[in-house]
Amino acid sequence: MRVTFVVNGEQRHADDVWPGESLLFTLRERLGLPGTKNACEQGECGSCTVLLDGLPVCACLVAAPQAMGRDVVTVEGLAAPGTDGADKGLDPVQQAFIDAGAVQCGFCTPGLVVTVADLLRRVPHPSEAQTREALAGNLCRCTGYEKILDAVRLAETRMGQS
Ligand code: FES
Ligand code: FES
Repeated sequence: MRVTFVVNGEQRHADDVWPGESLLFTLRERLGLPGTKNACEQGECGSCTVLLDGLPVCACLVAAPQAMGRDVVTVEGLAAPGTDGADKGLDPVQQAFIDAGAVQCGFCTPGLVVTVADLLRRVPHPSEAQTREALAGNLCRCTGYEKILDAVRLAETRMGQS
């Protein structure tokens, strides 16, 4: 079947999708968007987090046909060129992860970046408890999470200044 949806602001379609295919597979293997990572494929780790109609979901748990006609934003979309084609550069959350040293192997990073971008859009100044709760579904195998929390605070500060 053909699935038509908006991905990172562009109308896209994927062909030959089977009804049980995950949105994660479709994004990575059919639409050439490998930023969304497959680490567990069981909804346990959050590495595959994308925004579906503005809400964070595990793309490995969403059947691609469920995204028909809906709006999907992946980690690539946070830094996508503007409608005028101009490069927007990195999203402040992406830059903060780099600057705070919150990236080690990087496998969890795309999911965390999408989750943090969503958190700071909803709650511009989250408490530490709110941040930890928001990140509870995103597992990192490398860091002790302190650098990740530093990145959230750095992004919060920078976004508050812009
Ligand atoms: S790959 Fe989807 S939650 Fe781990
Ligand atoms: S940086 Fe390696 S899993 Fe998080």
